[in-house]
Amino acid sequence: MAVKFQGKYLDGFVKPEEFNNMNREIELCHNILHQKNGAGNDFLGWLNLPFQYDKTEFEQIKKSAEKIRNDSDVLIVIGIGGSYLGARAAIEFLGSQQYNNLDKNKLKVYFVGNTISPSYLNNILALCEGKELSVNVISKSGTTTEPAIAFRVFKELMEEKYGKEGARERIYVTTDKARGTLKELSNKEGYQTFVIEDDVGGRYSVLTAVGLLPIAAAGFDIDKIMLGAQKACKDFETPGEHNDCYKYATARNILYRKGKSIEIMASYEPNWQMMNEWYKQLYGESEGKDQKGIFPASVIFSTDLHSMGQFIQDGSRNMFETVISFKQAGEDYFVKKDKDNFDGLNFLADQPMSEINKKAMQGTILAHVAGGVPNIVLEVDAMDEENLGYIVYFFEKACAISGYMLGVNPFNQPGVEDYKVNMFALLGKPGYEEQREKLLEQLSK
Ligand code: PA5
Repeated sequence: MAVKFQGKYLDGFVKPEEFNNMNREIELCHNILHQKNGAGNDFLGWLNLPFQYDKTEFEQIKKSAEKIRNDSDVLIVIGIGGSYLGARAAIEFLGSQQYNNLDKNKLKVYFVGNTISPSYLNNILALCEGKELSVNVISKSGTTTEPAIAFRVFKELMEEKYGKEGARERIYVTTDKARGTLKELSNKEGYQTFVIEDDVGGRYSVLTAVGLLPIAAAGFDIDKIMLGAQKACKDFETPGEHNDCYKYATARNILYRKGKSIEIMASYEPNWQMMNEWYKQLYGESEGKDQKGIFPASVIFSTDLHSMGQFIQDGSRNMFETVISFKQAGEDYFVKKDKDNFDGLNFLADQPMSEINKKAMQGTILAHVAGGVPNIVLEVDAMDEENLGYIVYFFEKACAISGYMLGVNPFNQPGVEDYKVNMFALLGKPGYEEQREKLLEQLSK
């Protein structure tokens, strides 16, 4: 398992000595991170998490996942942001295996509480009718509005369906070990709880119960995920020529300082779609502050070559691309020969579709580079659990280093509060009266 950094498509945009010139800066950021004396240093629990995690809780996660798989058709996962994206991204990334094992993976995992859309909620409720259900509600603070609304709905549904006692056996809570509404409720109701440690922020929490319980319930091997993360943790333990994670962080910052303020994460595998969303949250919330930061965007090719391809090739030159390339992306398919060659596609006959996809990737990279878009390629071995664990740690560490290079605190998200204050004020939440008056006046103009 590995993620390999390829910088050859940066030629003409970044000189090799520019990487060398960043060595001191990298070393500094590495030391700040590992000596835990930088901004946000109380949120570094993820750094050694692949080795230092609660082994007893890990076994309980596997037991609960097994119980859910045995007694449920559907697992409802309630959460938003860091309490949602990692689990969904991982499950969809590993999905190709799931399709290959359909009967083994009868459990459906539906995510709610990540939107306030009533039609979305109604659709999920309809899908739950007549099904055996379990619920995993995830919120570190225990007070986030979107998941709180969804949990109110599903708690009631579970109690109606199974009675209070029965519901208790099927509701799993992942939250702070001591504080918050969810923790208090769990103590009162006797729910099975899992802990999000104080020093692990939401977007760095995939390798805790936040991600691991839904992933294990979906039928994937979380031991292998941790193995992959451990390997990455070791591989990127020190700065140096071998450290592809730091090369990626460095390349991003060199490009940013040359005016490339948008990073487009591109993959040719649709199963990467939600990993793109996870990456956008991780980097967007970590770096976008103090009027600075690289704007994280994403595409799935070749699909989006027919939408965003035009802009990337030919539009504003303020972006770079990071392409995720898989050495091996699941089972292959061979295009067959047609005796009449009715569509003129016989030149593709007997070629593996993975090769056709690869040629699309190579052709696109060359075209975009010629069009003035620097490309970074990150080569990943395969779409399996070990590689997933490795990728998660790779991006988390690169994000922390990159954030320190940018001069921001990569572990807070002060900007997220502003919309909440306005939303609460407009909804009439007690304590927000003054802001409500101000906003209503603005809206009436
Ligand atoms: O990364 C983060 O910290 C955020 O995206 C949170 O995960 C998100 O706001 C949800 O918070 P909570 O888990 O407290 O409900």
